[in-house]
Amino acid sequence: MLSKSMEEALNRQVNRELYSAYLYTSMSAYFSSMNLSGFAKWMKIQAKEERAHATKFYDYILTRGGKITLLDIEAPKSKWASAGKVFEEVYAHEQKVTAMINALVELAAKVIDHASFEMLQWFVKEQVEEEEHASEILVKVKTLGDVPGHLFYLDHELGKRE
Ligand code: FEO
Repeated sequence: MLSKSMEEALNRQVNRELYSAYLYTSMSAYFSSMNLSGFAKWMKIQAKEERAHATKFYDYILTRGGKITLLDIEAPKSKWASAGKVFEEVYAHEQKVTAMINALVELAAKVIDHASFEMLQWFVKEQVEEEEHASEILVKVKTLGDVPGHLFYLDHELGKRE
């Protein structure tokens, strides 16, 4: 059985993962409007991964006999100044998510919930990858000068994501 505090924290994380999916879907739409279809595809797949993260938390809450409480999801912004600005935000957002996961790990330790602590280790590793990918793409975009015309090579590369 989940403690009340852990149940609430996990439900909030379902919401944050769904917000991440919303944010990346909005970024995908922005890239589509810029005719950067590879960037748009990459973001759409990222949004799908975030929905999978939300589902992982959702399923875990139910497995532990917890109650699902779905919260409001705020609208994400829809305009950015450039591709570089988008990836600056992705990187900053993933760092925030890492801090949320770390706070959940600390809560699991505090309430002596070994099962949640164990489940969260998957997300600890996942966040290392999430930050790495965002920062790698950010460096590449900046190297290319963040000019739409210069980004077509990278657009082609990102479009290969499956
Ligand atoms: Fe669910 Fe991108 O972290």
